[in-house]
Amino acid sequence: MEKKLFNIKPKLRPYKIFIFVLLSGIAFSCSTPEEQNEKKEFDISSVIEKMSVEEKARLVVGTGMYLPLPDSIKAMIPEGLRKELDTTTAYGKMVTKIRQYLPGTAGVTAEFPKYGITSQTLADGPAGLRISPVREGKEGTFYATAFPIATVLASTWDTDLIENVGQAMGEEVLEYGADIILAPGLNLQRDPLNGRNFEYYSEDPLVTGKMASAMINGIQSNGVGTSIKHFAVNNQETNRLSVNTILSERALREMYLKGFEIAVKESQPWTVMSSYNKVNGLYTSEDPELLITILRDEWGFDGYVMTDWGGGSDIVAQLKAGNDMIQPGSPEQIQAVVEAVENGELEENILDTNVERILSVMVKTPRFRGYENSNKPDLEAHAAITRQAATDGMILLENKDNALPFESSVKNIAAFGANSYDFISGGTGSGDVNEAYTISLIEGLQKADYEIDEELKDIYDNYIKKTRANQPPPENLLTALLGGKQPIPEMELDESIAKEMASKSDIALITVGRNAGEGDDRKAEAGDFYLNDKEKSMIEMVTKAFHAEGKKAVVILNIAGVIETASWKNIPDAVLCSWLPGQEAGNSVVDVLSGKVNPSGKLAITFPTTYEDASTAKNFPGSSVKGETDDKEDESGFSFMKRVPWEVIYEEDIYVGYRYYQTFDVPVSYEFGYGKSYTSFEYSNLTLNTDSFIDQLEITVDIKNAGQLAGKEVVQIYVKAPSDQLEKPESQLIAFGKTSLLKPNASEKLSFTIAAKDLASFDETNSRWLVESGEYTIRIGASSQDIKLTDKFFVKEDITVENVNKVMTPNRDIELLRQ
Ligand code: BGC
Repeated sequence: MEKKLFNIKPKLRPYKIFIFVLLSGIAFSCSTPEEQNEKKEFDISSVIEKMSVEEKARLVVGTGMYLPLPDSIKAMIPEGLRKELDTTTAYGKMVTKIRQYLPGTAGVTAEFPKYGITSQTLADGPAGLRISPVREGKEGTFYATAFPIATVLASTWDTDLIENVGQAMGEEVLEYGADIILAPGLNLQRDPLNGRNFEYYSEDPLVTGKMASAMINGIQSNGVGTSIKHFAVNNQETNRLSVNTILSERALREMYLKGFEIAVKESQPWTVMSSYNKVNGLYTSEDPELLITILRDEWGFDGYVMTDWGGGSDIVAQLKAGNDMIQPGSPEQIQAVVEAVENGELEENILDTNVERILSVMVKTPRFRGYENSNKPDLEAHAAITRQAATDGMILLENKDNALPFESSVKNIAAFGANSYDFISGGTGSGDVNEAYTISLIEGLQKADYEIDEELKDIYDNYIKKTRANQPPPENLLTALLGGKQPIPEMELDESIAKEMASKSDIALITVGRNAGEGDDRKAEAGDFYLNDKEKSMIEMVTKAFHAEGKKAVVILNIAGVIETASWKNIPDAVLCSWLPGQEAGNSVVDVLSGKVNPSGKLAITFPTTYEDASTAKNFPGSSVKGETDDKEDESGFSFMKRVPWEVIYEEDIYVGYRYYQTFDVPVSYEFGYGKSYTSFEYSNLTLNTDSFIDQLEITVDIKNAGQLAGKEVVQIYVKAPSDQLEKPESQLIAFGKTSLLKPNASEKLSFTIAAKDLASFDETNSRWLVESGEYTIRIGASSQDIKLTDKFFVKEDITVENVNKVMTPNRDIELLRQ
């Protein structure tokens, strides 16, 4: 087996790094972030020379997580972990002070005023800035905007819009006084049941990478940083802290790293968060092949890498592997670093490199620059952006006989389903934002001047009140700690109520709710992936009653992830998937229902017919390693979650999502890229600038609005590539675009530039990205299956786009890497 030895002794840069920021003094209140810089001179190399080993250790290890917790939750934390900070020491005093900079954030790095080293505040995302909305002894509130979850954003297929969302989110990061937001999340939606899928964009790596780049560029345009997470192959919550994921080099490079590669190259995130899991035998945070060879040497990343909170088990291995910062960190870990340097286990110049990377990001942060945050981000403007992003990401799944938009005669509405009244804006766990409000569907309807049936509203209000009061506390400690809203289980609907409502209302809306989040995966069971009996009978009963009166019934899916739809989707007249659309939820949904906005979202993940149809189903979430028991000692001493040694084999290889369903002819309920509109589009004039590809291809296509209402169309370009040397999926997305709002009869020409890397597959034998010679079919579609136009081009000779290192192989020698 070929092996590569790593250069894991990077030196300090030979030149001195001086940061001169020349603007100063002028009225902070009316100047831009860039202008609000103090004159600072900071020589990273000479500061490192002056720092003691202990000070360096305190910088690379975070300052811990000392959350103000209610006693009920404290009691759930194992005793050994219920540590309080010793506030009498100099270190304890410093930590107490810096934690007040922005209460409620996930992590804070140490400050050293004598060197000019400022603290970095790391706050969660990705649906918005996660901070405490209220502060002890302080007046006012500090709510952040709950933007639509990443899955909604990806469903817009609109990178400009995502960049706007990023700009707005970044302004909150800046104005509330954080330095880095722990976002976006770029893991692939490998399996429909991953509890954190909502934090991620898509089952496709190109969509993931492009959305993430737009988001990073938007956020970082404010002069604040991002941390792309969870690097890498973190595709499940079950045993997330210890699961060993085994996959081929090709699946790793082509599917699971691809989105990160695009994001690093196109948007230079300031930091990367390594993931909890192992990949091919090593914790990602201890893997120099991942963090040095691939991330830095091949992709050119120049920020710092932090662990996920409590990730990995060996701090020395982490620092050596290029995982520069350990979060959330503990005094024991600081001690461990000092001892490792003293006994020669960790060379000091490796620690210096970790410190240097942290400081080179620090000099860009608002706190270092002396930015005086206002605590007054433009929440009103951000609410408007949220509303628009959510409407543009909603997917009209069914619309029989143009049931939507509402006819002008629709005035009185009967809203069924507890979630109509208790709409879910975002997922649970660290991705849950503390927003000031969530507009429910009912509120959205009322604001748009529709009348709600008050009798039905009372029935649901009473039911929700009673059910909430009797709801058991969350079993999952993470949910208890981090919060988030679980949907109210559906009530048994009485047929007489459905009939009564049908006689007096103009239309029925039926909301089905599902939430999910950190710490748990979802289940292929009724009430989760499948509808339960109460939900099914609600849809059937309400639709039947309204149809009997010649009226319509519309289902709204307020869901965190994919559910089964095939068995019931033909019952109602229309189905709208809103996902978890952020705090403007009800307004956004009503914008689409009423026709104020024409839906233009398309699925960035497939809805399979049954869960078992997914290629990953038989290997999700893996199994415990033979001979190992459940009570294995926790390796890190930090985590309160079980660390049962588990293994998951990605047997499906590159055949994830539509790559699988299409190649193996598995019928699905809704395919990747699918979504309806209130208008229709015509595709014409597909042109390729050449039929012989050398290194670039220009594609243009005309899109015309052939219907009656203004609308936008998402255009997708797929390729079917030759497979003489490497097998290929039936089709693969290589580019996408979205028209502007086209009036009826208006047209737009969309242009796409395809580079060789966009066509390349990963050739394991030669560790290279290869464009095979042969015939390529271009398919332009309104979805992965609804192909409108095709054309062909040829590649005369094989093209090696890039040679890379042979690393992270499934059978690599872990011991050799640890040396
Ligand atoms: C999550 C991360 C999050 C971190 C800090 C971890 O449990 O996996 O996504 O950023 O906590 O809250």
